[in-house]
Amino acid sequence: MKGINILSTGLALPGRRVTNDDMAAMVETSDEWISTRTGIRQRYFCAEGQAGWQLAAQAGARALENAGVSPHQIGVCLVATMTPAFATPSAACLVQRQLGLEESTLCFDINAACSGFVYALITARALLESSPKPYALVIGAEALSKVTDFTDRSTCVLFGDGAAAAVMELTDLPFAAVQGARGDDQALVCPGFGSAPQHLSMDGRAVFRFAVEVLPRCVDGVLEQSGLAMNDIDYVVCHQANKRIIDHVVRRAGADPAKFYMNMDRYGNTSAASIPLALEDMRAAGLLRPGMRLVCAGFGGGFTWGGVLVHWNVKGETVCD
Ligand code: UT7
Repeated sequence: MKGINILSTGLALPGRRVTNDDMAAMVETSDEWISTRTGIRQRYFCAEGQAGWQLAAQAGARALENAGVSPHQIGVCLVATMTPAFATPSAACLVQRQLGLEESTLCFDINAACSGFVYALITARALLESSPKPYALVIGAEALSKVTDFTDRSTCVLFGDGAAAAVMELTDLPFAAVQGARGDDQALVCPGFGSAPQHLSMDGRAVFRFAVEVLPRCVDGVLEQSGLAMNDIDYVVCHQANKRIIDHVVRRAGADPAKFYMNMDRYGNTSAASIPLALEDMRAAGLLRPGMRLVCAGFGGGFTWGGVLVHWNVKGETVCD
């Protein structure tokens, strides 16, 4: 099976930066509590009237520019989000219009909560196999501040808004992925269209237990399937919910902590956007070099989880021009 090669990434953040001290002015909390329990120091919130799909389109445009790919070469456009502005039109359709992707582009949203970006990479890979175009635009975008209860300190300090996108193509290098779902309507519930809850609600401890159960399984599963060892992997990019969860995965894997990139301090938990936001930060910081191998691993509401092997900007071994 052909593998996933990401050529480049791009991001878009809303303009309102909110520090932990700003959160402490809203609810009874402190920078000390938030940063020691989660690793988060600040996040960004959308302005009034700003939607996740607008961030998705900006991130997508930047990713295309960074990759040197034209909108006409995109055959698949997926937006992973659990906070779409509308049930229809999908965020992906609005991105199609905004970026001038061709009308033949397969465009739809994926809701797998914080595993959404991994689910979307796996889906886009399969769709590219039968696409006449060489590239897919895969975006994670969230406007979580729109569903956050700003009187509930146990959730409101955790989440942030943002979007990041990746341009991917198929490669002859190996593919490996694990994914799963376990229906649960208690631990993490985000309001939908016509559903009763007004705000996102979460049993933090239950989600924490779930995360430390499935994340190591995602990483181990990708290594086992690909026949690679941890030493063959340059970076593991986990969903950026909580530093303590990632520390647990590092300990379980007996791995070098430097391999596990973290940036939740800057953005908070941005759900489906968190993994591509990490990739873009790594790219911008010059950490990613052509031919590197990454494992992306996510977990989230649903419950859902997924891990996938990603090749970074491989030259000369790709299937398409
Ligand atoms: O993207 C996937 C979704 N989410 C996650 O991955 C979240 C997974 N869970 C977590 O990250 C952690 O469970 C949290 C960070 C949400 C909470 O950390 P915790 O160590 O599990 O704290 P806790 O819920 O057990 O609460 C400990 C104490 C409680 O006080 P008492 O009962 O011990 O007096 C809470 O009321 O901390 C209190 N607390 C706070 N205090 C200050 C809860 N939220 C806050 C807050 N500021 N913001």
